[in-house]
Amino acid sequence: MRTVSVINYKGGVGKTTLTSNLAAELAWRGLNVLMIDLDAQASLTFSFITPDDWSDNYADTKTVKAWFDSIEQRNPISLADIVFTPNRISNALKYRDGGVDLIASHLGLINVDLDLATKLGGANLTQAKRNFLSVHSMLATELDEIDQDKYDLVLIDCPPNFNIVTKTAIIASDYILVPARPDYLSTLGIDYLIRSTNTLIKEYNEFAELDDGTSTTKIDPKFLYVVFTMIQEYGGQPISAQRPFMAKTKRLSGIKVMDAYIKRNDTIFGDAPQFGLPTVLKGYSSGSHASVVEGLEDVAKEFCIGIGIKI
Ligand SMILES: Nc1ncnc2c1ncn2[C@@H]1O[C@H](COP(=O)(O)OP(=O)(O)O)[C@@H](O)[C@H]1O
Ligand SMILES: [Mg+2]
Repeated sequence: MRTVSVINYKGGVGKTTLTSNLAAELAWRGLNVLMIDLDAQASLTFSFITPDDWSDNYADTKTVKAWFDSIEQRNPISLADIVFTPNRISNALKYRDGGVDLIASHLGLINVDLDLATKLGGANLTQAKRNFLSVHSMLATELDEIDQDKYDLVLIDCPPNFNIVTKTAIIASDYILVPARPDYLSTLGIDYLIRSTNTLIKEYNEFAELDDGTSTTKIDPKFLYVVFTMIQEYGGQPISAQRPFMAKTKRLSGIKVMDAYIKRNDTIFGDAPQFGLPTVLKGYSSGSHASVVEGLEDVAKEFCIGIGIKI
């Protein structure tokens, strides 16, 4: 089981679109994928189920917020209690070997960050380090409890910030995937994200080393790829206005840029969420829509090479 976090500080760069399409395509190709929606905006959740379904069946007890809260209240539930298989995509994958499960999000997840922050600190340095480790390793510890044969891949859709919930995802991850739009601010943000993440990893490992006698293990999440999203093509190439930002990102140290990319198409990505099925599974047979799907398939293939999974 590989765990991959999809992260970018910025909102609207295509994190959720990348997460849902990767999950769907890889399930189509035979993998069992668990998606975790850690963003309070819950776009990933609503890409797979309707708001009504969510309110009726999940909102109160079966979201990642309920899980965080249960630990806070010292009456922990497990991730297995809140995971489910969304209907619509499960039907589409009926005759395939792979499948997609989801852990839904909740608007109230914003408050979880504040609650977790109050758990940091401590009467002395040792206590503060213990608290730092226990808060930040929450998700990692829980994912360790999942049967390693049940899923080939866990994909975590992160919120557009670097708060504690996002950090729990990084700590739990083997790899970090960074979707980005080819524009000036996105390119700047990636460099900053890499540095902040490396600082977090270093701090966590220093604390883990000093921790006497407990079982805290060191972590080594790796930056996998920057995946460009919303690429506009002309003559089969990204347009010249976007190419300088792609080139600049390729020169960043600490992360590679994926060769494949996601093309911009407002029509098909615009109506994706209501439909309950990610774009990549919609079966367009020709024209510009099919070429967007081909791009998504290429992204999924290159992703698998990067994390060493055969499909
Ligand atoms: N390749 C694309 N072409 C056109 N629109 C896109 C594309 N990818 C995403 N979008 C749209 O942009 C918005 C933000 O995408 P989303 O994946 O939700 O980003 P994030 O998760 O980073 O906030 C959504 O409305 C989505 O439908
Ligand atoms: Mg999102």
